[in-house]
Amino acid sequence: MSLAFAILFYVATLVLVVGVAFKVVQYSKTPAPLKIPTTPAPTTTSGVVMRMFREVVFFESLFKSTIWTWIFAWAFHMGLFAVLFRHGRYFHDLLPAVIVGPLKYAAFAMIIGLIGLLVRRFAVNRVRYISAPSDYAMLILLLLIGISGSMMTFVSHVDIVGVKTYFDAWMTLDFDNLILPPDPVLRIHLFLVAVLMLIFPISKLLHAPGIFFSPTRNQVDNPREVRHVAEWAEKL
Ligand code: HEM
Ligand code: HEM
Repeated sequence: MSLAFAILFYVATLVLVVGVAFKVVQYSKTPAPLKIPTTPAPTTTSGVVMRMFREVVFFESLFKSTIWTWIFAWAFHMGLFAVLFRHGRYFHDLLPAVIVGPLKYAAFAMIIGLIGLLVRRFAVNRVRYISAPSDYAMLILLLLIGISGSMMTFVSHVDIVGVKTYFDAWMTLDFDNLILPPDPVLRIHLFLVAVLMLIFPISKLLHAPGIFFSPTRNQVDNPREVRHVAEWAEKL
């Protein structure tokens, strides 16, 4: 079983890294033939960098459009990033205990956010109308990962040193020390995480790298000063 999980994670890591790299290259080569920044938009490149920063860190445009979605989406994402940051301790020794300890409560922000987003998909008529099965599936998958993780953190503790030893062995290809703690919740958690990694490059979760390539957000509003020519058109 320990070996099966190790193989699953090698495959999942490969699919995630190669898949996302492939999509990023594809996005970067996709022509943006028209000047379409959503106005009011910055007129300088540094302005665009600031706009992108506000968009990624604060979800500015979502804040301006739907406050309830913003509350839950922002809580979920900030919780998720704090949780992932805290997970670093399974792979290296750089995080001090003062940070790692309190950050465990970020799991609640993540779970409450996900529940809010899920309720929104059921309860708001116009959102339900445009929701595909995958929209629900992503939220449910992340919710199950969050709940199984929190079970280990807050209910029945898992052998953290054992998890760290396993992933150290996994990273150094040390197959003799590849012993996964025999905790069923941990195995459920890890299996769901592997599923998340495998579907990431073929799902809506690609919005994470994708936002940086969005022409409505990353273009400078200077059509009168600079003639906009798509890369492919320059060759004509
Ligand atoms: C650069 C990083 C990211 C940014 C800026 C970002 C931003 C956003 C925003 C603004 C939304 C709300 C869209 C809307 O309904 O209008 C959203 C939705 C969502 N994000 Fe992210 N995201 C990021 C990374 C991630 C990651 C890494 C995951 C999961 C592994 C994730 C999972 C989701 C999910 C599941 C939704 C859909 C929620 C729903 O059903 O409405 N995001 N994201
Ligand atoms: C290979 C990757 C992962 C491993 C080895 C792992 C392992 C663990 C372990 C051992 C715990 C229990 C921590 C404790 O008892 O203090 C935990 C908690 C948790 N995990 Fe993961 N996990 C992984 C990936 C993820 C991902 C991708 C997410 C989110 C999408 C996630 C979400 C959570 C949450 C919300 C908790 C509870 C809060 C916390 O302790 O920070 N995990 N995880």
